[in-house]
Amino acid sequence: MERSLQPTWAAKRAALTTFMTIFDKAKKTLQQLSVTDAHGVESLFTELRAAAERELAESISRGAPNPAQREKLAKALRDRWLARKGGLVAQVDENWLKTAGKDLKPAVGKQFNELRRSTVGLEFEKLIEAVPVKEAPVVQMGLPLGFEPAHATPRDLTLPGYRRPLGSIHPVIRMQREIEDIFLRLGFRIESGPEIESTYYNFDALNIPESHPSRDDWDTLYIDSKTVLRTHTSPVQIRSMEKYGAPLYILIPGKCYRHDNPDSTHSPMFHQIEGLAVDEDITFADLKGTLDFFAKMLFGEKVRTRFQPSFFPFTEPSGEVAVSCFVCDGRGCRVCKESGWIELMGCGMVHPQVLRNGGIDPDKYSGWAFGLGVDRFAMVKYDINDIQLFFQGDVRFLEQF
Ligand code: PHE
Repeated sequence: MERSLQPTWAAKRAALTTFMTIFDKAKKTLQQLSVTDAHGVESLFTELRAAAERELAESISRGAPNPAQREKLAKALRDRWLARKGGLVAQVDENWLKTAGKDLKPAVGKQFNELRRSTVGLEFEKLIEAVPVKEAPVVQMGLPLGFEPAHATPRDLTLPGYRRPLGSIHPVIRMQREIEDIFLRLGFRIESGPEIESTYYNFDALNIPESHPSRDDWDTLYIDSKTVLRTHTSPVQIRSMEKYGAPLYILIPGKCYRHDNPDSTHSPMFHQIEGLAVDEDITFADLKGTLDFFAKMLFGEKVRTRFQPSFFPFTEPSGEVAVSCFVCDGRGCRVCKESGWIELMGCGMVHPQVLRNGGIDPDKYSGWAFGLGVDRFAMVKYDINDIQLFFQGDVRFLEQF
């Protein structure tokens, strides 16, 4: 789906109702949800179907430790979705379908049938069939997973077959998608750029001249004197301005590289997400409002944000954003290292020279930008104390997500 470059007010208002989970929404009527057209109906049902699919996929990928547990899990999941009284499908029937006005009824009816079709996998027998019982995994060296060894003698065909273990989404990518989703709802688009980058885009165009000491802030891995492994996602700011001009609302996730020795908080390869908004009349208030909204979406409505002055050559003024600790609510705990605050990102108003370098007239347009470390976000959110765990490929770690 093409996403518009500009968030409309309708999109921003719609984003506010996303504080409600889809399960809260199933308890309300379409009227209470201010859903008045077929498009709104469709996106509600899409969200609900996605939730059903996700829960099914998660149960299959987790499996159950034994048949009794599997039976329990299957019953619970079935009841949650399909129970005649109070199941989610029944709630939707009651609250969305039965109360729909004449003009919306056909659209809701059609979506409702589709929902019923796409939840058949949640019936008890289907679940028992699909959810594996996972005992301690048997690793057979030298055999690709899920492949049966060849036997010279015919085997007992009544023995259970080999089950191919399912993978799961990597925690860093899971975090990245969660952040992307919030900005996509605000009308931002996803952009990307090369990891092998010229010194021009990585530094010069971002107002970091060769002789400037701030170049040392980025421990750069050089390929040759004019080529680096990008040290941040900011070069894609310039590339996107050149490509699209203004107005521009983009999110740029990607890998970055720095000459750091690996330890529990450093990795020579890590992930950032850059945000960039350029339009007429963009002010610092837009930056604050957007990032405060973002923090509340990600960590919960209770959190507060704190902006402190900082310095980046490509933003002026520049700031550091912190969020009140979502675990202890600012009182001080292990997660926030007793400070009550968790550092989130660097940000600021795009420097006029940077706009100019991207081919945008700073007298007509202004903008804000931020850059955050996805790995760090994932560590905070999932309470992981060693960044190396993300990149060692240990299945015992990864399958917990
Ligand atoms: N690129 C900066 C860094 O890697 C972060 C940043 C991005 C700061 C955008 C301000 C605006 O440290």
